[in-house]
Amino acid sequence: MEDKACLTLAIESSCDETSAAVLSGGRIILSNVISTQIPVHQKFGGVVPEIASRKHIANIMPVIDEALRQAQVSLTDINQIGVTYGPGLVGALLVGVSAAKALAFSLDIPLIGVNHLEGHIFANFLAHPELKPPFVALVVSGGHTSLVHVKDYNTFYLIGQTRDDAAGEAFDKVARVMGLPYPGGPQIDKLAKLGNADAIAFPQALSGKGNFEFSFSGLKSAVLNYLHNAEQKGEIVNKADVAASFQKAVIAVLIDKALQAVENAGLTKLVLAGGVAANSALEKQLKASTEAAGVEFYYPNMILCTDNAAMIGCRAYYQSLMGDFANLYLNAIPNLKLTDKE
Ligand code: KG4
Ligand code: ZN
Repeated sequence: MEDKACLTLAIESSCDETSAAVLSGGRIILSNVISTQIPVHQKFGGVVPEIASRKHIANIMPVIDEALRQAQVSLTDINQIGVTYGPGLVGALLVGVSAAKALAFSLDIPLIGVNHLEGHIFANFLAHPELKPPFVALVVSGGHTSLVHVKDYNTFYLIGQTRDDAAGEAFDKVARVMGLPYPGGPQIDKLAKLGNADAIAFPQALSGKGNFEFSFSGLKSAVLNYLHNAEQKGEIVNKADVAASFQKAVIAVLIDKALQAVENAGLTKLVLAGGVAANSALEKQLKASTEAAGVEFYYPNMILCTDNAAMIGCRAYYQSLMGDFANLYLNAIPNLKLTDKE
């Protein structure tokens, strides 16, 4: 039974967003404050871990205070605290984990350690109050590309994942070589709208039936080679065509494998999660192909796609229903896996 009187304070600091949220029950967002560090890291072309940690330290308490203020609650009203403890940058994670432990200890309330990837999937429960498992989730973020069978709120099977680069990582690297600012995903998304997606045939690795692993490093190298060759020959590159053709190759593989995974699992629902879920072409094409295949398709709105604490709070709430609490020895686990849970 959903306990709407239960107030969860959630904290997220795994990468370059310091975020805190207050949830009433599992699915009602009272506040979701996100302080992004993107402008700070932009001049370096990517996230600088040491700077990220320092910014999290400066931001964490003001962000928590603001989340409580917007939710119109005080710390003593909070019933439990959820925090991302991995995967992510160790120094960044430690800031959130330490703050959460200190608050849980001083308020004498339960602490819940949340896997960031599970949080991304659970963003969909916030965006779609009617959504229930079972479904297949396609998690595409800056660090991960995975297909997950979500059997119920606490049972997950990893169907397949990337062998090398994550989809978001490929977007960011290709954008960087094209001289576009960090993070590259939204830039490529925008530029691709002006280009011809059929202009260049970039490779679509591991495509074919029954293979649920991804690989994007070959595609990334193919794009870099294309750009370097053109540069050496003194040819002018149509960057919009490169962006559109690259994006097409990523999207084709994601959609093909996601639909196969839904069919293979004997399910009828597909859920999109992670920062790359904000990609407009991916959403549009997944909408069309799921509709053609008779599959229900869910994705979160933009704010809930990228890193935010509300999704962590949602996951934490469902863990609390199972008694899945952490103790004060909770540590950051930078390479935390989305392991099969039963
Ligand atoms: O989930 P997220 O906020 O952080 C991680 O957990 O990694 O994802 C960030 C990633 C970045 O690689 C960013 O370039 C990508 O999501 N991204 C996009 C778009 N918006 C963000 N990729 C493609 N198209 C977008 N519109
Ligand atoms: Zn993320």
